[in-house]
Order: sequence, then C-alpha cells, then structure tokens
Amino acid sequence: MKRMFLSGLKIFYKMKKNNFYITTPVYYPSGEPHMGHAYSSILADVFARFYRNDNSKVYFLTGTDEHGLKIQKAAEKNGLKPLIYCDKMSQIFKNLARKLNLSNDDFIRTTEKRHYKAVNDLWNKLFKSGDIYLSKYKGWYSMSDEAYYNSDEVIEKNGKKFSTFSGSSVEWVEEESFFFKLSLWQNKLLEFYDKNENFILPISRRNEAINFVRGGLKDLSVSRTSFTWGIKVPNNDKHIIYVWLDALTNYISALNFPNVKDELYKNFWPASLHVIGKDILRFHAIYWPAFLLAAGLKPPNRVFGHGWILSGDEKMSKSKGNILNPLEIIDTYGIDESISLDSLKRCINSDLANNYGNLCQRVFSFVKNNCNNKISKAKNISESDIKLIDQTNILTKNLRKDMFNQNLNNYIKSVIDISFLTNKYINDEEPWKLKSNNVEKMNNILHISLEQIAKISILLNPIIPNASAKVLDALNVPKITRNHDFLDGNNLIPNVVQINELNILFKKIA
Ligand code: MSP
Repeated sequence: MKRMFLSGLKIFYKMKKNNFYITTPVYYPSGEPHMGHAYSSILADVFARFYRNDNSKVYFLTGTDEHGLKIQKAAEKNGLKPLIYCDKMSQIFKNLARKLNLSNDDFIRTTEKRHYKAVNDLWNKLFKSGDIYLSKYKGWYSMSDEAYYNSDEVIEKNGKKFSTFSGSSVEWVEEESFFFKLSLWQNKLLEFYDKNENFILPISRRNEAINFVRGGLKDLSVSRTSFTWGIKVPNNDKHIIYVWLDALTNYISALNFPNVKDELYKNFWPASLHVIGKDILRFHAIYWPAFLLAAGLKPPNRVFGHGWILSGDEKMSKSKGNILNPLEIIDTYGIDESISLDSLKRCINSDLANNYGNLCQRVFSFVKNNCNNKISKAKNISESDIKLIDQTNILTKNLRKDMFNQNLNNYIKSVIDISFLTNKYINDEEPWKLKSNNVEKMNNILHISLEQIAKISILLNPIIPNASAKVLDALNVPKITRNHDFLDGNNLIPNVVQINELNILFKKIA
C-alpha cells in the first residue's frame, strides 16, 4: 500500500515536472521587427525545443501587444484605424516566427476576444479585492516604453526630459486614473523573492529588481483617459486599462484563463519561464507577480532577463534608428547560423564549420569511401574509447542544469567541447591507418564516432534544428529516439549502423 502511494507520488511528481510553459514577450507591432525581437524569440525557442527533446510536455507562446498610445500613434501615422494597422503588422510578426522556424504552439494577439475576457476578469478580481482604487495621476510617462517614471528617474537635456533608465523621452501627464496598490506589496514581494531564489535570473537582474523594490514602491497608475485605443475598464467607459496590465495578462489568456479548470491552464500555469529583455524586467519581475498575488493567482516560476543586442554600443531599437532586420540577416547567413549574432562569423566558422561540421563530414565520408556506408560495433573497446566516453559523460552531466538555469553559454560550450574531443580522438586513433591491418578496431573507432555525432546532434538540435536534423536523418536515427534518453545511459545508435550521404552543413563565411 505504502509502495503504491509512493509510486503514485513519483508519477505525480514526474507529471508536474514534465510540463514546461515558455513564453516570449508579446511584441509591439509599432514597426518592423528587428534583431532584438528575434533574440527573445530564438532564446525562448531553444528552451522549448530542449524540453521537448527532454520528453517534457511543452507549450511555447509568442504574440503581439497591440494596445496603447504607441500603437495608436503608429496607426495614425500610417493613416489606418488601429485594428487595421495591427492586423497588418501582427501578420509581419507571425511571418517572422515562421521564418525564424520558431516552434511556438500558439500566437496570441492582445486584440483577441479570449484576451479581453481574461483582462476583464483579472481587473474585476483586483477591483473586488480592493487592490484598485480611483485617484489622479500626476507624473512622467514615456510613450516609447509605455512606462511611468518617478521624478528622480528623469533628466533634462536641451530643454527636453528623458528617462534615466531607458533614455527615451517622457512627457508630463495629469489625469484621473485608477491605481493598483503596489505600495502594499513591497514586503510581500521581498519575501517572495527570498523564498524563490531563482525566480529572477541571472543573478544581476535579480539584484536589480530587489534593489528597486527595496527603494520603495509607489502605487501604480493602471488606467488612462487621454486616448482610446485599449481595453475599457469594466463599468467605466472613460478609462482604458494600462497597456502593461493588459499585455502581461496574455500569458494566462492564452491558457484560457479565467477558466482555471481548462486543461491548458491546469497543465501549464504557473509558467515555467518568461524570456524577456532586461528593459522590461520591472514589469515582469515586480508588477506581474504583484498583480497575480493580489488576484490570488500563482506567479510564474522564472523570469529570465537577457541582455541587449547592441548596435555599436547602443541598444538596437526602432526609436534609435539603428536596427538590423532579422529577415535580411537570415537571407544572408541562414537561419541556423543567426543564433549568435554578436560573434556570428567566429561562431559559424570555428564552432559550426570547423568543429561540428568538420567532425560530421570527415566521419561520414570515411565511412562512405571505406566501409560502404555501414559500420558494426566491435566487441571490445580500448582505453582511449573509455576515456572519450568518460570525458563526454563529464561534459553532459550538467547540461540539464545549465538549461534549467538558462545558462546557454555553458551548455553550448560543453557540447562544442564534446565535438572537439571527438575530433581529437579521431586524430589520435588514426582509423585510416587501420584499414589494411585491423578493420575491427577501425570499425570500432568509427562506430564510437558516429554515436558521438548522434549525441552532439541531439544536444545541438534546440540551437541548430535544421542542420542537426540533416545529420540525424543521414544517421537514420528514428525521430522517436531523438531525445535525451542517452543522458541516462542508454545507447543512441544500433550496433549496426547504416548511413546515408551527408551534404555540406555549413558554408564558411569569408
Ligand atoms: N510589448 C512589450 C512586451 C510585453 S510582454 C507582456 C515589449 N515589446 S517590444 O517589442 O518592445 O520588445 C519585445 C522584446 O524584445 C523584449 O524582450 C525586449 O527586451 C526585446 N528587445 C528589443 N530590443 C532589443 C535589443 N536591442 N536587444 C535584445 N532584445 C531587445 O517590450
């Protein structure tokens, strides 16, 4: 009986552990997408793909954030009604998701009915619990950030006022407004961060958020009356809901909130991971958990704030006019290669072409030219084989942990190191010298190399899905076994491996 209970618990734990809800921010479609947008999306996609390969149930969401003054102004500038403008622009972001080969399960628009329903419900909950009250806002507002700033966060330059935080221009606003009692949440948030040490990663972002909260929280204006493009405050036609309260709710409206009995909501809330850029940390790490806690809902498990893609030493952004269009980059460099923009060329040439690409090419062509595309595993393995396998095991040991902590650099480095070690093993073992006198040993070296290639390809699959799939196809690894079972000690390729032709994977960039 006890055993049954314990194994039931184990299954339950496994089920819980195996659901991963991963999101990108919903993007402002106020202009063409740029590499900064692609960055949040590609990162989130890497995590989603990793957890699918790890046999988890994954739900990956992206979409567009279509309300607010910024969008209203952009629509006016284009001579279009806001919704018509958003229909057109949102489609461009949808196309980008396809072009980036994102594996998203859903694409939400904040102008959809399901989202209105969720925002209305959340507002009503906050209003009923007494966390929202009516007053008047007097202060600074940045349209570009859709954010309120305190006076100590504003500086004057050439007679104009700017946010010290983002550098964007701010204007003075005075209007009737509903407020969320954020000031009440200071200690509760600090307690929450304390209990959930990894709620915000990396640690530098966590410290940034904690310092901000420690500095004191003022009540937050959560409605506007001076323009109309947004979701109306329930029972009050004069006010529209602050675009950030509106936009953040997308993460639950996509799960069919307020129907908390819905399978999607039950399986995937709280979110495992919100991937965001550091500029929108305050909204995700402070406002969002406060709204949710106030409404009696669970905050997400993790907010990961990545850095910026720079142009020179400035953040790449539309308002700075220094943007690179991801569609152009993909057309020039290819989709798999554009993950590491900062060191794009070095990455393509050294990690992809010279290291992993070369490993695949040399083993595949050797097996083709000398073994008729077929290799059998040997009965005995040598000390150098064991050494390679041991070293590989050491390098794979922390991979799940690296991914769980969004430590992508460590992850990639370990996998590329495995590829490097395998290349070295082949150099040291010199299978080409064994062709005439020890075919058994030669086959063994090749079998081990092919197994290494299969492992590396699965591990690189979240990052370079297309190229790694080509290799796995050429190795005849069935789709169903393209998972991480080998990390738990299982073999990946059969004792007799039949391979197909493998074309060049990466072209070097001059
Ligand atoms: N609409 C809000 C998000 C609402 S989420 C509830 C928003 N949209 S955005 O289109 O301006 O930015 C979306 C994402 O792109 C953010 O994560 C932002 O940090 C990221 N990037 C925009 N420019 C960037 C760079 N130059 N570099 C890296 N990422 C940056 O904010």
